[in-house]
Order: sequence, then C-alpha cells, then structure tokens
Amino acid sequence: MITTFEQYKEEYKKSVENPEAFWDTIAKQFTWKQPWTKTLDWNFEGPDVKWFIHGKFNITENAIDRHLPAKANQTAFIWEPNAVDGTNRVITYQNLHDEVCKLANTLKSLNVKKGDRVCIYMPMIPEAVFAMLACARIGAVHSVVFAGFSSSALAGRIQDSDCKVVLTTDGAYRGVKDIPIKTVVDEALETCASVEKVVIYKHTNTPITINSERDVIWQDVVPQASSICEAELMDSEDILFILYTSGSTGKPKGVVHTCGGYMVYTCYTFQNVFQMNLNTTSKDLFWCTADVGWITGHSYIAYGPLLAGASSVIFEGVPTFPDAGRFWKVIDKYQVTHFYTAPTAIRALEAVGLDFVKPYKLDSLKVLGSVGEPINEEAWQWYHKNIGKEKCPIVDTWWQTETGGILISALAGVTPTKPSFATLPMPGVQPLLVDEKGNEISGNNVEGNLCIKFPWPSMIRTTYGDHDRCKKEYFSTYPGLYFTGDGCRRDENGFYRITGRVDDVMNISGHRIGTAEVESAINTHNDVVESAVVGYPHDIKGQGIYAYVIVPSTTKDHDILRKEIIAEVNKIIGPIAKPDKIQIVSGLPKTRSGKIMRRILRKVAEGDVSNLGDTSTLLDPGIVDEIVKGKL
Ligand code: WT7
Repeated sequence: MITTFEQYKEEYKKSVENPEAFWDTIAKQFTWKQPWTKTLDWNFEGPDVKWFIHGKFNITENAIDRHLPAKANQTAFIWEPNAVDGTNRVITYQNLHDEVCKLANTLKSLNVKKGDRVCIYMPMIPEAVFAMLACARIGAVHSVVFAGFSSSALAGRIQDSDCKVVLTTDGAYRGVKDIPIKTVVDEALETCASVEKVVIYKHTNTPITINSERDVIWQDVVPQASSICEAELMDSEDILFILYTSGSTGKPKGVVHTCGGYMVYTCYTFQNVFQMNLNTTSKDLFWCTADVGWITGHSYIAYGPLLAGASSVIFEGVPTFPDAGRFWKVIDKYQVTHFYTAPTAIRALEAVGLDFVKPYKLDSLKVLGSVGEPINEEAWQWYHKNIGKEKCPIVDTWWQTETGGILISALAGVTPTKPSFATLPMPGVQPLLVDEKGNEISGNNVEGNLCIKFPWPSMIRTTYGDHDRCKKEYFSTYPGLYFTGDGCRRDENGFYRITGRVDDVMNISGHRIGTAEVESAINTHNDVVESAVVGYPHDIKGQGIYAYVIVPSTTKDHDILRKEIIAEVNKIIGPIAKPDKIQIVSGLPKTRSGKIMRRILRKVAEGDVSNLGDTSTLLDPGIVDEIVKGKL
C-alpha cells in the first residue's frame, strides 16, 4: 500500500514508464491457478484490451477462500435493516463462504452453466451480494438491475443479454415504502422468453403469485444445498458481469467487465484510496451507501472490500428514514471508520439542518469519500466540518461504470485534497485533456474533454452483444483515446476537477440517465408530438430533468397531461427518471437541417437567457422567445 505522497509519485512514475511490470507485481499478490503468459495486449482501435492473458483463477477464491485461514470469524458484512428497530445481521467470512457456495450449488441444480447470464433484481440485503458471488463462483455472468427500475426497463435488460435465471425477492423496504419486487419481475417476464427459473428470497413476506413451473423459493432450496462448491476455473478475460448504463442514445448498454483486470484493479484502488487498516486485529469498518444495482455497489460493496479482506456495512434503507439522522446513527452504532457516499445525499442531509447531526458523536470516522457527481465546494465544506469534524480526509473519487474502479482520487491521508477536486490519477491511469478537435491540451491551468490514453486493468471490454457500439461511444470521438464524456479542468498544480458531462447524459442524484431515454419514454404518451430533455442545476439532486414537450393545441388540461407524462416515464424507466419540470411548447429550436439546438434549451432551463447566442439561423427564431417566456 502507498503510504506517503513521495511514494505515490514514485509508483505513479513506475506505472507510466513500465505499466506491465507495475501491474504484474500487484497481480501476483492474488491467488492464481495458472499464471498469465503476457500482462497486456491492447489497441484502442478495436477496441481490444486484454490483461493477464491466459491467467486462470476464480475471483471468489480471492474474495473469500483466501481469507479464511486468518479471517473466518471476521465480519465480512454487517447488515443494517431499513427498520430502525429491526434485527441486524452479521455475516462472517465463513458464513459468506457457506452462503455463496450453497447458492452456487443451487444455481447449478437449476442448470446454470459457465457463461450463462443471471439477472439479479434485489434490494439491499446480503443475499444480493451472495447472488453476485454465487454467479462468479460457477462462472455465470451476473447482470444486476437496480431494483428501482420499472418492469419494462428490467425486461429490456433481461432480453438484451438473454438471462436464463432471475434472482429476486418478494418485496423490498425503502423508508416507509413496501415495494412489490416480485410483481415487477412477473410483469417483466411476460416478454422474456429466455428466463427458465426465478429464485425468490422471501424478505418482506408480502403475498406473491407463484408460477409453479418457473418459480423457486430461495429458502426452500438454498439451505439444503451443500456449502462446498468448487470454484469454476476462469480465464482472466472471461466475462465477470454485465452492468447496464445509459448512453447518449435511447437504449441502455451492457457494459462488460472481465474477471482478471477487474479483480486486480478494484482491490488495488480500494486499498490505496481508502487506506483501511486490514490487519486481523483491526476494527476498521467500511460503509459504502451505494446500491448494489450501480457500479459503486459492485466495486466497493462487493468485490473491492472482500478482495481486500475488509469488513463493511450494508444498509437496506434510505438516509432520511426514520429521520435525516439515520446515516449518522448507523455510523455511531457500528463505529464506522470509512464512510463513502454521494454528494446528493450530503446536500439533502445538509438541507435539513444540523439538528439531525448533533445527537451523534461520529468520532469513529477516519476517512470520508464522495462519488457519483461533482461535489460542490459548499457540500464538501459541510461534510468536512460537520461529519468529518475537520479531521477526516475526503476522497472525491472520480470514475464510471465503464472504468470499473476509481481512476482519479486522493489517497486518504496520503496525497493532498482540494475541495471539489478529484485531484490526482491513480497509478496506472494516464488522463489527458483534449479540445473539440482532439488535440491534446498540455500544461496546467487548462480545461478540456477528459480522455485516457492507456489501458488500465478494469476498463470496459465491450458493450454486450454490440462491440461496435463500444467503439462508437468511447473510442471513436478521439481515435486512439478512451473518451469519458466528461469535461475537466486541470489546475496550476495538475489537480483534476471534473466539471460534468459534455454529452447527452444527465446525472440525476448520482444516477446516470440519458436524455434520449427520457425523451423516448415521454414520446410514448399519445398526445406528445415531440420532446427534448435537458439537465439543469438542482440544489439537491445536482441535476434535475427539464422536459420541453410539444403537444397539439387541442390537448386537454396541461396539469393532467404533465401527471400522465410522469406516469409514463415511471412505467418505462422508473421513478428516478421522472422530469422535474415539463414545459409545454409549440415548437423546438431547430437548425435548418432539423437538429435540435440543445444548447439553447439548456441555457433556458438553467435560467440563463441573457446570452443565447446567434438564433437567427434557426428554422423558426420566434420559438426561442416563446420558450423563454414560458420558462418554468
Ligand atoms: C459519471 C459516471 C462512478 C460511480 C458512480 C457513477 C460522474 C462520478 C464523480 C466525481 C465528478 C463524477 C461523471 C462520470 N462522476 N464520480 N467524483 N466527480 N463527477 O457511475 O453512473 O457510470 O456515472 O458520473 O460525470 O462520467 P456512472
């Protein structure tokens, strides 16, 4: 582990001068059944990236079995339920081993084979992590879908990767809500012919309908299964999982991560960024508040911490239930030392005032983390002062579903921090800024589009079933470079500050949503002729969704229409994508070639109408005045 700023600089230098030797040393710390024959083979034209070529191993042996001699009785997870007076659960590494193996054997008995896709649609319970690891144990590819997505969003993802089995629950608790998860799955499966079996973990005991041909109750089969399951031998470049995420076109894409590079990189970044004491006697406890349905939950709830042999909290609920002190209560209750959350949560908890923080000591905390969106200076300061009591370094970790692990971040207590800056690249990561034409912008105190010029082990390999899309989305804008889609500033010291997306992707409360996806959902409403969606600054969410919608002049009550549009978006994507503002317009600002001028729509939504630029070339310049006047 890197423990000084000097050492960081040395390691960074080594990693750039000789990346293969650098990653070789790190990868050797894991348990391999057969060593790799070549460390790296790559080109960004394909793209075609392979790490630790021909290496054979299983990630679960590294995440679980490897720790058993020393840590069988150490906590892998403490699960805190949604209900404040509910019973918590402690899962040791031995328990984890047994549960994962039992489920893995169950999946085998359901005819799941190496390479088969398994969809996981589950709330935040330990079984969701068992499910991921059970798939990995037998070489099945997991595709976790966030349990807040609608049945049609779930169906689309299951169909895209032809999942054979779905792992789910009867229901989920989130704050005061009791969500009928199984009903959503039933609806989705009406259009998913590939699914042979559904395994349902009974969690809320909410009534469910059982399809006797297809449905299996987890508790009826898993406890009987053997707790010994030999790990499938996997190649470094075998697929570990698919995770769907939004892009600039309508349909979400399945980002593919493979076994070897992902293992090495998530563990390395977890250890170095968070700087936990991982000795057997250590009381350090990690808590990442993300959902397992997002990449953060994959890399820093499941794989990273387990590969490193850490202990973590899994929390079922929401930050505001039963009140806005819940995070702080849980930190005190378990003496959490390392806390990793999203700026949107920090802002929401800041907004309700310090009365919810004051009852708690928070003196166990050593390190704070931030992820998912740019953290504004005010939220950073609030977090630093009121939660970290000015003694905990804040690691602002920049990365993406596609990057698999953290690429730019401070190392806690080791490298300098700067409010609202992700700061420096991890060893092995070579960022560069380019202008619109793709020319490198060198030197400091500059701003441009963020690209990465050299492969790192946990980078995206392909988009499932459509390699061309992977090439187009990430490797074609600037040939020879991986393009992140983010804008970025590099300050006088070479520290990076991510300024936000420069493509048609929004970041709503840290959730990634494509404008095209929301538009296509809105357009399914019968009265909608056309729509255009943009993000706008939102005090709590970071960005809100602003929709401009054209409807015929004869359309009924606009308030009813707005409600119907929201219902439509809920149905097609899920509540996270519902527009915050819907402005009814008679037209959209379009160029003569029919292209929507989103820049103008963004400015209006931001409330900055002073400088809309030259609108004279528009097909109908008058529409801009109408839109400005009708601004919400
Ligand atoms: C996008 C990726 C990384 C896991 C969660 C989101 C934004 C993420 C930061 C940060 C500024 C950030 C970027 C990125 N983002 N972390 N620390 N500072 N922006 O993963 O859904 O794949 O979204 O989130 O815009 O491109 P994701």
